[in-house]
Amino acid sequence: MSPDPFRDDAPGGALGDGTRVVHAGSPVGGDGTPLVASPVFASTYRLSGPPSGPYQYGRQTNPTWTTWEAALGQLEGGEAVAFASGIAAVSAVLLSVLKPGDVLAMSGHCYYTTRALARGLLTDLGIVVRFVDDSDLTDDLLDAATLVWLESPSNPQLDVSDIAAIAARSHERGALVAVDNTTATVLGQQPLLLGADYSIASDTKALTGHSDLVLGHVACRDPDAAAAVRAWRGNTGAVPGVFETWLAQRSLMTLDLRLARQAANASALADLLVAHQAVGVVRYPWMPGDPSYSVAVRQMRRAGGLVSFVLADAEAAERFLAALRIVVVATSFGGMHSTAERRARWGGDDVPAGFIRFSCGCEDAADLLADVSQALDAAFS
Ligand SMILES: Cc1ncc(COP(=O)(O)O)c(C=O)c1O
Repeated sequence: MSPDPFRDDAPGGALGDGTRVVHAGSPVGGDGTPLVASPVFASTYRLSGPPSGPYQYGRQTNPTWTTWEAALGQLEGGEAVAFASGIAAVSAVLLSVLKPGDVLAMSGHCYYTTRALARGLLTDLGIVVRFVDDSDLTDDLLDAATLVWLESPSNPQLDVSDIAAIAARSHERGALVAVDNTTATVLGQQPLLLGADYSIASDTKALTGHSDLVLGHVACRDPDAAAAVRAWRGNTGAVPGVFETWLAQRSLMTLDLRLARQAANASALADLLVAHQAVGVVRYPWMPGDPSYSVAVRQMRRAGGLVSFVLADAEAAERFLAALRIVVVATSFGGMHSTAERRARWGGDDVPAGFIRFSCGCEDAADLLADVSQALDAAFS
């Protein structure tokens, strides 16, 4: 067997991010076999005798998922299971791990539907949910907890948790650790390699990055944990569509390029915002002086495209959003188009009324900065 080029100790050393995403999950074949991975297999499978081979029924397995999950697993450093959405991936971990009476220590700053799921369904099932800051993860709580749930950087506050330190302490005290890695993507941060047991992402966002599909995945270090998550998917039917999966595989190849442009735009935008007198707190974890800067640069592999900032109040924020010409007001993020929204419009996040989450896309920096400048002028003149 030829050596696995994704291993860091492969001959020639570790591959760069651009190479990794172009080749992740690629089939290796001879002349006449496809160059690109994942033709769409939307078919059912012939099965005339006892089950044999990997493909029998489309809710359990199909070749399009196999290729996509191989790509994700190579990038994550574990075994990946693809889901119909990010929240399906979130639920699969929460509900396959936790039983009535178990304690879940969940970051109070994580995605609001994740918190709503914990507060509602999990509590109704008799699971004890504690919403915490990282500093609340005391030895006593970790002794009691079955699962610690982190989201880093968090959406929308962009707080970064020290995953390696929390994972080490949690494991010493018997708790598992799950990290929602949506905002970073696997090129920005590899939770499994930092010690987490589960890495979860909404692939609706930057990982696929074209604002044209809804998907999610879970990656696990322990194959038994992956098997439990996979069984959960089959039993609940939270399966991804093959066409979306194929689109995702196609989009993955440009992840390195997209993230590089998004991060360059975000860094320039953060500088502009910090210097503007109408803008209050600006959060960008890779900006020196940000509260998460030291842990972000130590732990993360690269910067991301999300910036958050606070304008005076709801009216000022709405005036700013209404004046934008290129940037689109939308509630998703991580795509090619720059998007922004006033998060407090939903009521689910602990943020000021004028808080804006801004997702830098792949437009030219000069155009983006000019648009934001004119919108700030229009909002505050
Ligand atoms: C951090 C995070 N996790 C999970 C989700 C849920 O993902 P999806 O919308 O793909 O179900 C989102 C969606 O915004 C998110 O931001």
